[in-house]
Amino acid sequence: MMKPVKKAVFPVGGMGTRFLPATKAVPKEMLPVVDRPLLQYAVDEALAAGIEQMIFVTARGKGALEDYFDIAGELVATLKERGKQAELAVLDETQLAPGQIAYVRQQEPAGLGHAVWCARHITGDEPFAVLLPDELLWNPGDPCLAQMVRARNEVGGTVIAVMEVPEEETHRYGIVDPGATKGALTEVRGFVEKPKAGTAPSRLAAVGRYLIEPECMAILAEGKRGAGGEIQLTDALAQLIGRQPFHAFTYAGARFDCGDKAGHVTANIALSLERADIGPAVRAWLKANI
Ligand code: G1P
Repeated sequence: MMKPVKKAVFPVGGMGTRFLPATKAVPKEMLPVVDRPLLQYAVDEALAAGIEQMIFVTARGKGALEDYFDIAGELVATLKERGKQAELAVLDETQLAPGQIAYVRQQEPAGLGHAVWCARHITGDEPFAVLLPDELLWNPGDPCLAQMVRARNEVGGTVIAVMEVPEEETHRYGIVDPGATKGALTEVRGFVEKPKAGTAPSRLAAVGRYLIEPECMAILAEGKRGAGGEIQLTDALAQLIGRQPFHAFTYAGARFDCGDKAGHVTANIALSLERADIGPAVRAWLKANI
């Protein structure tokens, strides 16, 4: 019987150099989109897909992440004293259960594959999800990971979320060599990390959501270096092709690359326009100024 995916790995060790100087003191995953840190969106997406345990692969300087998911005792007491029910409800709704989060530390920046491998003792022999919080995949009615879990229930094996990107951007992503397509699922014949310009096998790019079988960890353990001299998740996954079912899932919904300044600002605009409290003011400003 196929094991359900109950654990998710969030690689959150990156230095966030594209957001300096803010990231000197604030982890990039804590940068807000409207009023929630980026990481909260990824955690909400995982919860909506039935994930029960969150594993954060952190690094030096990421203490704010642990504080964020803790109970802010003094703050809660003060809000209660002042009768601030709405604010208390916000804290409540973002509070995870005791023990629902585990932290492991990536001791050196050796790549995404290395970060995922750091979680191996917690994922054990179970399948797991990987969510890159920089990628804000926004579909509140039917979040990406939940769509992927449904797809995996049909086909089993590895499922990675993809979207079409322009040809000139393929060198920034893991790109799929596609086989047969049925609905949103495409068989994966090859998977290449950051192909050189003009060599990409398609325009189907991995967008930071993966459902992975435990066998991937043994491949990552070999520590082979790939693009950029780093241990790449893409390369380890590529080795599973032909050994297990492996599909690309074309995600239906909005995507904001919040690892990029323009993407992050755009996400703030798009999500604020959807909000009843601040949407009208933002819309009015845009109308008057653009
Ligand atoms: C990582 C992955 C890449 C994927 C991308 C999505 O790259 O290695 O395969 O397409 O995330 O954002 P990074 O952006 O960390 O260099």
